[in-house]
Amino acid sequence: MDIQFEQLLPALGARQALCKSVLPELLGCIADIAYALRKSDHVALAGTANAFGDDQLNVDVVAENLLRASLSRCPAVATASSEEDPAERPVNPATSPEPSEEYTVAFDPLDGSSIIGPNWTVGTIIGIWDGPSALRQPPAEKMVAAVLGVYGPRTTAFVAVRLPGFEPVCLEIAMGIDGVRSSTIIRPAVRLAEPPFKTRYFAPANLRAAAECPSYMRLIAHFVNSKYTLRYSGGLVPDLVHALVKGHGVYVSPVTATSRAKLRRLYELCPVALVIECAGGRAIDPATGEDVLAQPLESCDDRAGLLCGTSSEVNLARDFLIGASFRG
Ligand SMILES: *[C@@H]1O[C@H](CO)[C@@H](O)[C@H](O)[C@H]1NC(C)=O
Repeated sequence: MDIQFEQLLPALGARQALCKSVLPELLGCIADIAYALRKSDHVALAGTANAFGDDQLNVDVVAENLLRASLSRCPAVATASSEEDPAERPVNPATSPEPSEEYTVAFDPLDGSSIIGPNWTVGTIIGIWDGPSALRQPPAEKMVAAVLGVYGPRTTAFVAVRLPGFEPVCLEIAMGIDGVRSSTIIRPAVRLAEPPFKTRYFAPANLRAAAECPSYMRLIAHFVNSKYTLRYSGGLVPDLVHALVKGHGVYVSPVTATSRAKLRRLYELCPVALVIECAGGRAIDPATGEDVLAQPLESCDDRAGLLCGTSSEVNLARDFLIGASFRG
């Protein structure tokens, strides 16, 4: 791995294991997953279901196994859980009774199963939490880093780090191809832009819900009437990365009376919220208006909707969905 995280991020000086082992290992794993996807001529059902009852694809299993193998090479990772195996379990035996750095890693190995068949861009979502568990902890303090792997024509990764007492950082890294574990920083400070915006982008997830949710329909009409540009693939990672790269965007995945909350807080919402916040944006629960990272997780299966991206757009969309009387 050619990136010297501790030089790049002064905050990491006190986190030797995070910058010399956990982050480089996870980035290397993203290169490995990209290579495995390139070599997978067929994307097929593995014939199994994960604990949530979702069908597993052969590539889900490959990505899960590669990440598990990576984590077993990181002594500071005490526990891990994933969308494919959603229970926090020990990864490495504690090496000392009071380790100076101890993490739990929660990940969605391959997000975007429904669009991988047509070879659209998919991603990996990883959250790194201080201590041996992510549950019943304040996410805004305890989740210290998040990584998004992006598997498209190119392989890139977004790394966000937020440690107490230091400026949050978000950077974009280009990964080597064909299994080469090399990496190059292509954007040292990923930032969403401030107004005025040249082009405004919107990503309306679960658009069908607008048929029975008048407030969502009014929000969509507002985007269309105000000449926002539609950028939506159905992959959470590429849809958010679009905003991060273009410097503007609002992603809306509302929960309505007839469409249940689908996104998992531990494996999807919390890590993407950290990345968006470290890039200067906002991520809230569209049902309550609360920050995604405000509420502790009760279980590995907590779910919610998502409204995130450029802060002023998130506030505007929130007013449409929750009502202008709400100010949070
Ligand atoms: C999928 O797309 C990538 C480029 O994004 C390409 O290299 C690869 O060959 C494609 N795979 C298949 C099976 O078409």
